[in-house]
Amino acid sequence: MEFKEVVLKRRSVRKFDPNKKLDSKIVRDCLELATLAPNSSNMQLWEFYHVTSPDKLKKLSNYCFDQNAAKTAQQMVVLVTRKDKWKTRVRWHVKMMEGKFGKKKWEDYSKRERFAFTYYKKIVPVTYADFGGILGWIKYLFYWLIGFFRPIYRQARHSDMRVVVHKTQALAAQNFMLAMTDAGYDTCPMEGSDTLRIKKLLGLPFGAEINMVIACGVRLPEGVYGDRIRLPFEEVYHKV
Ligand SMILES: Cc1cc2nc3c(=O)[nH]c(=O)nc-3n(C[C@H](O)[C@H](O)[C@H](O)COP(=O)(O)O)c2cc1C
Repeated sequence: MEFKEVVLKRRSVRKFDPNKKLDSKIVRDCLELATLAPNSSNMQLWEFYHVTSPDKLKKLSNYCFDQNAAKTAQQMVVLVTRKDKWKTRVRWHVKMMEGKFGKKKWEDYSKRERFAFTYYKKIVPVTYADFGGILGWIKYLFYWLIGFFRPIYRQARHSDMRVVVHKTQALAAQNFMLAMTDAGYDTCPMEGSDTLRIKKLLGLPFGAEINMVIACGVRLPEGVYGDRIRLPFEEVYHKV
């Protein structure tokens, strides 16, 4: 399909055809495409739980309040943010760069390589380190003071970094849903859910957060609730 065709075809589908099963391998491939989404600092603080077992699907539907999309879904995907894994990702990046650039003396690295190491060894840790929210606030106030004199990155608090990882995961979500449309499948993103129960179902730790649950299947004609409704574009478009 042409890109525009895919964008136009994707709809939030609330009733899926019970007779049309999904090929798990295709859904997995769409999730792999999801991981190619742009993401903050390439930290990839995301995880994708592909739920196919009937028992788990039933529980998950219940935790999504048995809304139609969840109740009729053939499979579901839970998108999870893992801000808590930032140290692991930093180590992965450093190891990966050492493999790519080679292990040598600092002065033997190129300027670009040195910047990459500094970025992951210093800038990213300063951005993510928080110590129970206190350091985040100290950084935030410090940046705010500097911000009087020059432009500065201000996303320093725990809540700011949560936004960062959820933004990242939302971009992956859209990649996934468009890939599913291209594969002839349908989806419905859902935030209407009991995220605590879902975390328990998936055995997720405290630091993990549910970004959204995506119900998957093949649409029934009545599964699309009417025409697509959007505000007049002029109301949201501002040419500057
Ligand atoms: C973050 C997010 C959460 C959503 N949660 C739900 C939900 O819990 N249940 C539902 O039926 N639709 C949900 N939707 C779907 C929206 O209602 C839908 O995208 C919107 O009405 C526009 O329709 P369209 O996707 O068909 O273009 C959600 C969408 C997003 C992006």
